Amino acid sequence: MNELTLKSKILVCQMDELTVEERQLVEVAIQSTEHSYAPFSHFHVGAALLLSNGKIIEGCNQENAVLPAGICAERAAIFSAGAQYPEEAVVMLAIAARDTSGRLTQEPVSPCGVCRQVIIETETRFKRKVRILLYGESKIYVIDGIGDLMPLAFSDF
Ligand code: THU
Repeated sequence: MNELTLKSKILVCQMDELTVEERQLVEVAIQSTEHSYAPFSHFHVGAALLLSNGKIIEGCNQENAVLPAGICAERAAIFSAGAQYPEEAVVMLAIAARDTSGRLTQEPVSPCGVCRQVIIETETRFKRKVRILLYGESKIYVIDGIGDLMPLAFSDF
């Protein structure tokens, strides 16, 4: 029997270590938390995408009394980009969240499994990795493509 060990690389940064473009995207994700509709969880998530044409697209979680009918911030942003700019690749994605106290989370907020699957599809569709910035007040995780968050992913059949 052989053992397979899978490795992920995540850069742990502070805001001042990001590029201007990265910082701007994180700021938009933070702003977008203010637009979130989360009357059930009170967990307000904002996402921002940088597209290959330079446009920035926002998304935030939209909840529903029928819980599965809601959507996460990441998918709201990605599907909005797909509707507005179907030809443009997603270059970068930033995510931030406010917890139930309304404060930005100390720890970086990480995309759920369904959103990870949608990010995989985005990379497959545009044949390029999406750089992912996960914001927390104490640190920011920078990840060069969804593969580091979801190894052995199902992406094709
Ligand atoms: N949520 C997101 O929007 N993105 C994530 O990465 C994690 C979770 C939302 C879904 C739901 O509205 C709330 O946060 C609590 O799970």
